[in-house]
Amino acid sequence: MGQSLLTSVGYVRRDGSMFCEGVALDTIAGRVGTPVYVYSASVIRERYQRLTSALAELPVHVHYSVKANSSLAILALLKSLGAGVDIVSGGELHRALEVGFTGHDIVFSGVGKTVTELERAVRAGIRSINVESEGELHVLNDVAGRLGAVVAVALRVNPDIAVDTPHKYTRTAERGMKFGIPHDTILAVARTMAAMPNVKLTGLAAHLGSQIGDAAPYALAAHELVRLKREIESDGLAKITTLDLGGGLGVTYHDEPAPDLAAYAAALAIAANEPGVEILVEPGRFLVADAGVLLTRVLYRKHSGGKDIVITDAGMNDFIRPSLYESRHDIEAVSSDDAPSLRANIVGPVCESGDFFANDRLITDVAPGQLLALRTTGAYGYSMASNYNSRPRPAEVLVDGDRFAVITKRESNADLTRRETSAPEWMEG
Ligand code: LLP
Repeated sequence: MGQSLLTSVGYVRRDGSMFCEGVALDTIAGRVGTPVYVYSASVIRERYQRLTSALAELPVHVHYSVKANSSLAILALLKSLGAGVDIVSGGELHRALEVGFTGHDIVFSGVGKTVTELERAVRAGIRSINVESEGELHVLNDVAGRLGAVVAVALRVNPDIAVDTPHKYTRTAERGMKFGIPHDTILAVARTMAAMPNVKLTGLAAHLGSQIGDAAPYALAAHELVRLKREIESDGLAKITTLDLGGGLGVTYHDEPAPDLAAYAAALAIAANEPGVEILVEPGRFLVADAGVLLTRVLYRKHSGGKDIVITDAGMNDFIRPSLYESRHDIEAVSSDDAPSLRANIVGPVCESGDFFANDRLITDVAPGQLLALRTTGAYGYSMASNYNSRPRPAEVLVDGDRFAVITKRESNADLTRRETSAPEWMEG
């Protein structure tokens, strides 16, 4: 029996009850408490393998997008597999350095980098700063000058490409959006840059959005980056050695088709066919979403207005995707795979009507005390958790084979108030 458990990838049922690899979810909840995020190491390894095999023929380097799940143990796992990282803040830089990513492993995106963040990135000697405005370019040139450095820069292009994602908040590449530099002004910015002594244009980048199921927009973006690269080079402004196609690869939350990785690879090949370039990709969700479940215990059941309501000990502060994007996550009873027979709203304890995980969802009939698993919550779950309603953030557990470890301790009530004071030390204004 041990053998089949050890070799199973991800989540399986044995005698009706749910396991992550070789460990019963019941055991984890009993030992660590709830709510708790659980991640399967084997799923992360398998997704990384799947992606890198699909791209094996291309000169591609994977830079995992830290924002999807920024826990140190997850970063260390991805590092051990060979990934670099894509960061968007000084905090993410700190995490990346802490687990041993070095300069060349790191690219830095984001529309609002501060002087301090840029200074730290320049000091860390990172591979590329993906600049998103002309203003940022001037600030970076000053920062690098003060530090006596010449830094490699990729211009993040806003390619004006519409993508079909489940929510408007996860689209980033259309004209008028805050991300990137409009594609029709890239050449002018490259010209301005050529006169700046402390920044060196080496790359072009585009990130289209998130939870994208179709490869076609990637092909459009690749063509656009190639076109801009050729223009920049034929004007003698720079030699472009990296083309970064961003993240965005979708996953199956419920019944969405899995992304066609062969078609994705074919789209990237459009950029990879340019001589002398390396392609970067920045997947986040694809690598970690399926690895995670959020375990929560049912606290109460009640009826209102003809509806059944299941109240759990996890809330929107622990997992905000359903509230923020109306995203659908499958929800399963942990200890039983009985056919779903209860139609209910599954809600948290937070004092907001928007605090729900599912409405009118058919699930296995569950009583108070039973465990539910919210599936596909390894990406943008814990990393988006907050302390709203003064709720300590949950623990995180990593499972590998028949072992598990707490990789993030549950916050305590003392953690909540540690940085606060009820007796302000006033300063003269
Ligand atoms: N690169 C850049 C520059 C990004 O802004 C993002 C995500 C990624 C890569 C990774 O994208 P992914 O491969 O994970 O789709 N909180 C939202 C998703 C926001 C994505 C933000 N940017 C959600 O829960 O759906």
